Amino acid sequence: MTTLGTPLSSHATKVMLLGSGELGKEVLMSLQRLGVETIAVDRYDHAPGHQVAHHARTITMSDPAQLKALIEAEKPDLVVPEIEAIATPMLEELEAAGGVRVIPTARAARLTMDREGIRRLAAETLGLPTSPYRFCDSLAELQAAITGADGQPAIGYPCVVKPVMSSSGKGQSKVDGPEDVACAWDYAMEGGRVAKGRVIVEGFIDFDYEITLLTVRARNAQGEIETQFCEPIGHLQQSGDYVESWQPQPMQAAALQSARAIAKAVTDNLGQGRDGQPSGLGLYGVELFVQGDQVWFSEVSPRPHDTGLVTLATQWQSEFELHARAILGLPVDTRLRNAGASAVIYGGVDGHGLVFDGVAEALSVPDSDLRLFGKPEGFVKRRMGVALARAEAVPEARERARLAASRVKPRLP
Ligand SMILES: Nc1ncnc2c1ncn2[C@@H]1O[C@H](COP(=O)(O)OP(=O)(O)O)[C@@H](O)[C@H]1O
Ligand SMILES: [Mg+2]
Repeated sequence: MTTLGTPLSSHATKVMLLGSGELGKEVLMSLQRLGVETIAVDRYDHAPGHQVAHHARTITMSDPAQLKALIEAEKPDLVVPEIEAIATPMLEELEAAGGVRVIPTARAARLTMDREGIRRLAAETLGLPTSPYRFCDSLAELQAAITGADGQPAIGYPCVVKPVMSSSGKGQSKVDGPEDVACAWDYAMEGGRVAKGRVIVEGFIDFDYEITLLTVRARNAQGEIETQFCEPIGHLQQSGDYVESWQPQPMQAAALQSARAIAKAVTDNLGQGRDGQPSGLGLYGVELFVQGDQVWFSEVSPRPHDTGLVTLATQWQSEFELHARAILGLPVDTRLRNAGASAVIYGGVDGHGLVFDGVAEALSVPDSDLRLFGKPEGFVKRRMGVALARAEAVPEARERARLAASRVKPRLP
């Protein structure tokens, strides 16, 4: 039996979100609806999730001392990482001491915070298909890895170079020939999250399409942890950042079966508790490349995924509601309700307190909806909102979402 408390009382069920961007904001609102007391944490004031939580805290989450002090002061029942840049070894320490439960597990948060942990787990420990890859600490090592000059099998051209710590395509570039390598190295050094000169170079996979397979570990009626899948989400990436997503992405039966098997293997492992017992409740976004019947694992978020914003328009329970329910030990329903799509709205300008023209025009697109995240500062390429649309079938939903997004015009006030 799961018992939930009353917020702001001595028996409140308290959940702390580490990271309170647009995805965290939706998770927080789902928790609020269940009467959970919420603590939104981010690195800057008035982050989207700060605006909808009971408590808003601003700290540097990559600083272990600040993170420990906050968790010990607030004593949440659950700590829910929403971003990667967190002092995850400290989370492991606190979890081991028995003080907190980290979602899905502190180990999963650590392994997925950089590309090396999760890639080695998937490819080397679990033997899952991935692109060929190498890790390099200098330009010379990168050149040798691509050409095979170090005696190892060559990664070859084209390939993709990424800082081991980065997200949303930052510092990532495609390398088509020897003339691009030095540029890719410099770009990765600028775009990485920490001053650590390490990159992954991956062979380029010429996929037919790529998907996010939202995978949920939740308790069933018997109280056992069960894995359930959402319908595959297709998406379009530009410079490593998602610009459009849709659901369902049609897949051949064999490819879907492989995709689910890969997602199950990864989430089963990441979901293991410290004692080896099943644990790791929550929703995971498993990124996969597909070519015909062949499926490659790319990466996984142990939390809601940006491309999954589309589920706000397509599923009976969005990925955010699924995450909120699963982590509280409640049952989930992953069924699709209707086809739909999402399209990203970028800031288009740099500045504080942007205003948004064209909202009424956007919402007059049939079966459309909108999220404006409320970020206090906009950048040309910062995601400020998303347009959502439903339709009989995906192509029409994509057109509607794109049209609605194009009508929203952020500008300086
Ligand atoms: N090895 C690869 N082959 C082909 N495309 C790739 C490869 N790696 C990344 N990409 C493209 O770049 C996008 C972003 O890469 P990803 O590794 O997911 O980085 P991030 O952590 O920033 O999301 C992918 O969704 C895919 O479109
Ligand atoms: Mg990705």
